[in-house]
Amino acid sequence: MRNYNATKRILVTGGAGFLGSHLCERLIADGHDVLCVDNFFTGNKRNVAHLLDHPRFELMRHDVTFPLYVEVNEIYNLACPASPVHYQYDPVQTTKTSVHGAINMLGLAKRVGAKILQASTSEVYGDPEVHPQPESYWGKVNPIGPRSCYDEGKRCAETLFFDYHRQHKLRIKVVRIFNTYGPRMHPNDGRVVSNFIMQALRGEDITIYGDGSQTRSFCYVDDLIEAMVRAMDTPDDFTGPVNIGNPGEFSMLALAEKVIALTGSQSKLAWRPLPADDPKQRRPDISLAREALKGWAPEVDLATGLDRTIAYFKGVAQPPIEPVISLRPAADVTRPVH
Ligand SMILES: NC(=O)c1ccc[n+]([C@@H]2O[C@H](COP(=O)([O-])OP(=O)(O)OC[C@H]3O[C@@H](n4cnc5c(N)ncnc54)[C@H](O)[C@@H]3O)[C@@H](O)[C@H]2O)c1
Repeated sequence: MRNYNATKRILVTGGAGFLGSHLCERLIADGHDVLCVDNFFTGNKRNVAHLLDHPRFELMRHDVTFPLYVEVNEIYNLACPASPVHYQYDPVQTTKTSVHGAINMLGLAKRVGAKILQASTSEVYGDPEVHPQPESYWGKVNPIGPRSCYDEGKRCAETLFFDYHRQHKLRIKVVRIFNTYGPRMHPNDGRVVSNFIMQALRGEDITIYGDGSQTRSFCYVDDLIEAMVRAMDTPDDFTGPVNIGNPGEFSMLALAEKVIALTGSQSKLAWRPLPADDPKQRRPDISLAREALKGWAPEVDLATGLDRTIAYFKGVAQPPIEPVISLRPAADVTRPVH
């Protein structure tokens, strides 16, 4: 039976996106009131359609670069396009979303005394010289490259979180998320898992950048959401940053072969040059997460997670699929011009 005393009012920014929609679902299941805020740039109402009639769920269209006045106990700040194809579409807006969005959400947390969690990223480590990356590593980030709007925006957001914590005693949690995949990823987001699955399902060539030896770790969405919820529930003296992800490391070539096997596709591999600033290796050190998040560890292995993701993508694999940015260009979002 639900414990009504434990019910919290929780704001999830970016709640109609991939991770946000799973988080909203989880928080509703845990008995909380959820306010999902999104400007639908890369997210979609369809991702939360199954929650719309729920009495403890509310959806609000809002851009976090503008202030928000609501009454909540906790804030999960996820609003930000996460894949290069989306965050490079309007890089100025990407930086604003991270920086102004953080300022607005931290201001809100300060006003109402809410606890606030920032969805940061492994991209704050840039192209790391240390493997795997512990939280103490400061990173190697290009401040002026095409990925900088995202990487530096997220780094600045972390700075703001820690300054609000030191200066205003805000209760903060910063989680650094490593590559996560699962159902409701956008099929055309250019991320490697969605790319490979969509190419395999359509029988197209699977694109490998460079020689395919660069590695990534892949965390299934359910494992990630469990870690986020546990991070929010840590004692007030725990701020993070804390890495969350799956330390299992796979080369792009190995992933492509797995996807081909699981989909039974006839796709062949096609080789392309490596894009600028593409990290060669990325793997989380999750020792701190294991310790601070009550023994949390990823449980879903890659084959199981890929199977579930492939099942989801089969429902969206039929052409034509419009790129998300043509559905809602950033330029259409009403905002002041600076
Ligand atoms: N998925 C990953 O592997 C991963 C890895 C590291 C970090 N993250 C972080 O997690 C968060 C969620 O990522 P995701 O994978 O679900 O991406 P996503 O693009 O599916 O979700 C982002 C959501 O934020 C919304 N949004 C963007 N700009 C906004 C704005 N100005 N105001 C309000 N809403 C806005 C989008 O419409 C979308 O619903 C992001 O902050 C991302 O940086 C994700």
